[in-house]
Amino acid sequence: MTEKNNVLIIGNGGREHAIALKLKESDKVGKLYCAKGNAGIGEIAELVDIDPCDIEGICAFVDSHPDIKMTVVAPDDPLALGMVDELEKRGHRAFGPKRAAAQIEASKAFAKALMKKYGIPTAKYEVFESANEAIRYIEKGSFPVVVKADGLALGKGVIICSTLDEAKAAVKSMMLDGVFGKAGSKIVVEEYLEGKELTLLTFTDGETVYPMVSSCDHKRALDNDMGLNTGGMGTIAPCPFLTKEMEEEIKEKIVHPTVKAMKAEGAPFKGVLYFGLMATKDGVKVIEYNARFGDPETQVVLPLLESDLYDIFDKIIDGRLKDIDIKWRNKSAVCVILASGGYPEAYEKGKVITIGEIDENCFICHAGTRAKDGKLITSGGRVLGACAVADTLSEAIEKAYATAGKVHFEKMHYRKDIGKKYLG
Ligand code: AMP
Ligand code: GLY
Repeated sequence: MTEKNNVLIIGNGGREHAIALKLKESDKVGKLYCAKGNAGIGEIAELVDIDPCDIEGICAFVDSHPDIKMTVVAPDDPLALGMVDELEKRGHRAFGPKRAAAQIEASKAFAKALMKKYGIPTAKYEVFESANEAIRYIEKGSFPVVVKADGLALGKGVIICSTLDEAKAAVKSMMLDGVFGKAGSKIVVEEYLEGKELTLLTFTDGETVYPMVSSCDHKRALDNDMGLNTGGMGTIAPCPFLTKEMEEEIKEKIVHPTVKAMKAEGAPFKGVLYFGLMATKDGVKVIEYNARFGDPETQVVLPLLESDLYDIFDKIIDGRLKDIDIKWRNKSAVCVILASGGYPEAYEKGKVITIGEIDENCFICHAGTRAKDGKLITSGGRVLGACAVADTLSEAIEKAYATAGKVHFEKMHYRKDIGKKYLG
């Protein structure tokens, strides 16, 4: 009989639910724990009431649970705070990059300097620690221009400015008003890239790197890419416009050089390295790196994984990723985010959710949900992901929307056009 390993997942969102669902398929995985999780994750894992950023609390929990054979750190903040370093120091097996490697996401200035030093294609940029200097630089350049907070800002620290006034307001809000706290005390000002956006997640142990199936996020709140930027309102996989040639170009000019660069910098990256890319007329360029699975990219990428996810995590931790082959299903997946009315601005919580019967090959990833008095209620901005896997993109879109149609809560809103611009 295969040995069963209990696993603790750190995080609360749809991404963590997708990871939990995939791990549950592995015959090597026994019991799942999740801190803190949500109502959906609670159906397949024991929820642990410790904040994902509470390094000491999580480490103490793992210390006192010798049955836990692996901790999967999914969100950016605990990675940047060094949760993996601390777990390893205490002799535990943890999946995710160490603090030094997580900088590739936690500091945009670090990521940009890395790309410059190693010739990895990205938008031209300058880093500023003075608002006046930033504005003087912007005054001399062209528009649109992109202003980014250096640190982690819940995906909201990027402002695309069409005019000098907008850019001045962005610099002021980040550097003088401190709307992103310390994350905005340093900023990156960069060239606006025109093109088509895609995401490539990769598995890497610091040496070997395997791209996952590509995906496309839909970041704006409203249909036709209108409205505010969000954490992501829906995703499709694979990316319909990614050709074999483009994929080779991305591997050769971006993916491999980045993994090599991190090693050369003494911060080998072990975990999931996320490449946010723009296909421009001058080739593919990096918009951003993340040090983790994307949300909601994970909800469409992992359902297409045929191989055992626990095995992949295990090999990455041991630096033996080259020993395995990773297989993907030749299908399409779609995730439509069902959000609270008002998101990404102020919204109400505590709405009762009802879900009808879900068809085969369709599923729901919970994000902001909680169980209360036997009912399912909303507890966040992105509440659920209505997902489907099918042979074609158009079929997957249809099924994901049929799934969305079975969910109800007051003031629920979602985009009606996820993936549709890619249909022929
Ligand atoms: P980020 O948080 O870095 O992913 O940025 C959020 C979104 O802003 C990205 O997904 C892009 O759509 C957009 N963005 C960021 N940087 C640029 C850029 N240099 N040019 C054009 N769009 C950008
Ligand atoms: N969906 C984008 C992210 O996870 O940052």
